[in-house]
Amino acid sequence: MDSNKRPENMARITTRELADAFIAEQIAAIKAQVGNKKVLLALSGGVDSSVVAALLIKAIGQQLVCVHVNHGLMRKGESEQVVKVFRDQLGANLIYIDATDRFLDKLAGVADPEAKRKVIGGEFIRVFEEEARKQTGIEFLAQGTIYPDIIESDKGVKAHHNVGGLPDDLKFELVEPVKLLFKDEVRVVGSALGLPDSMVHRQPFPGPGLGVRCTGAITRDRLAALREADAILREEFDKAGLVGKVWQYFTVVPDYRSTGVRNGGRVFDWPVIIRAVNTVDAMSATVPELDWALLKKITDRILSEVPGVCRVLYDLSPKGPATIEWE
Ligand code: XMP
Repeated sequence: MDSNKRPENMARITTRELADAFIAEQIAAIKAQVGNKKVLLALSGGVDSSVVAALLIKAIGQQLVCVHVNHGLMRKGESEQVVKVFRDQLGANLIYIDATDRFLDKLAGVADPEAKRKVIGGEFIRVFEEEARKQTGIEFLAQGTIYPDIIESDKGVKAHHNVGGLPDDLKFELVEPVKLLFKDEVRVVGSALGLPDSMVHRQPFPGPGLGVRCTGAITRDRLAALREADAILREEFDKAGLVGKVWQYFTVVPDYRSTGVRNGGRVFDWPVIIRAVNTVDAMSATVPELDWALLKKITDRILSEVPGVCRVLYDLSPKGPATIEWE
């Protein structure tokens, strides 16, 4: 049987019982595949890699080596949460690499969105490769491949190699315990494994992170403003009960300024753009009618708490013609 094909009779994992059965099955399969060897995993903190990490910790404990690369483009508090949950609470063997300077130095002056994605993806592989070479005795690479990745790569829509691009002498056997699951099933399994709701129900976050929301050439001050504005937006959506109700929401800080007035003097500061969308498959998206009082509260907070910002806008454009991200 093709191990990349979901069996017709495989029940959709919708309940705790089904999740527990899946977990028990996968723990046995991982133990049988890996034996007493070591497994490497790039742990981004996204739903898929987090669930794979939690499964492997249950199955093989300290034989799993998790590597979390902070590329400096994470949202506020995200890398800290990865360390807290996996190292402190689950006792994982976790290597945390703060590569912020490395990424931001490489990105300095790079304005084209695709060039930025290439720099971020390429640098990620290099940092991960360096760490992999420091480790001894690793024979397996775990990946958070899920079923839509396999379907899309079969159709030629995208290559699903999460850590693709490692050099030929670093080829590991793959461990992909959730590769036959759909996203909703991965979330049910994550909850059953005891991962926090904020991780299991995390909204989609692009691999290049805040890098594609700090448009044009990224600067540290504008990135800091973006991170703060995004944290305020998420906090206020959370308080308003919109988590899980709005599909994806974030802020963008473009690379141009506008005139404003503050404390009686002229300023020339950035705008913050709020983006919120609802969608089923991210192929098209609509913009929710957010409560005016909520928008006003977010605006007031961003204007008073985020240095360098003098304007807040709400992007009303559906996809298409606009894409969800600005770059
Ligand atoms: P767009 O902007 O194409 O986004 O409407 C659709 C969905 O894909 C996410 N996205 C990305 N995810 N790497 C990713 O891992 C990327 O480079 C990337 N660009 C967009 C986006 O956040 C949205 O959920």
